[in-house]
Amino acid sequence: MGSSGCLRCICCCYNCLVCLILAAFAISIFFLVYYQPERPIYELKDFEVKKFDIHGNILETDIAVSVQAINTNSKIELRYGKENSIDVEYWETKICSGSIPPFLQPTKNTTTVNTSLEGKTEVSQSFQDSLERDQMEGRIPLDIEIEMSIIFVIEGINWRKMETKMKCILVIDSLNSDKKTKIFNKKCGIKHEMA
Ligand SMILES: *[C@@H]1O[C@H](CO)[C@@H](O)[C@H](O)[C@H]1NC(C)=O
Ligand SMILES: *[C@@H]1O[C@H](CO)[C@@H](O)[C@H](O)[C@H]1NC(C)=O
Repeated sequence: MGSSGCLRCICCCYNCLVCLILAAFAISIFFLVYYQPERPIYELKDFEVKKFDIHGNILETDIAVSVQAINTNSKIELRYGKENSIDVEYWETKICSGSIPPFLQPTKNTTTVNTSLEGKTEVSQSFQDSLERDQMEGRIPLDIEIEMSIIFVIEGINWRKMETKMKCILVIDSLNSDKKTKIFNKKCGIKHEMA
């Protein structure tokens, strides 16, 4: 009696577990089919040097960038939080950084966010020499690293978080603030991670 009751109990638990797994599976299929979540698309649109001055060994920079964010979802809004950053590096030395203000992006929306990246960095003599060489040749390689953290919002409810890392290699003609920067080459890689 005792042992068969126990067996029944285990059997019942097992059935419950199978039911739960099936239900979870059905719910996620429903979400995917009904809400069709799609990743946002980011593009670095504009890059303008406002300030690039070296005094002694201190480099002061101010660069204005535009990042276009496209939400292709028709039933999902995207919440951009405070955790995001945009960094600019020259030969692995970070020269300036900034972030975009938090906002909620509606469905089927394209937003261009403008932000200013500022930095005050101590730079070595070899950094300055290499920069001078690149400036003279008119080809300066820069790495732009964009890290975004967004939340998929369904019917006003925070559903899932996604982290995106995007790295672009730009080759520009000049870092002088007195003329328009020309971008020769832009190559971006992107990586998404659901959290
Ligand atoms: C896209 O979303 C932004 C931010 O909420 C808003 O300011 C803008 O008007 C929207 N654009 C369109 C075309 O709806
Ligand atoms: C951002 O800059 C672009 C051009 O660089 C401009 O078209 C857009 O209106 C600006 N957006 C805001 C919110 O100022």
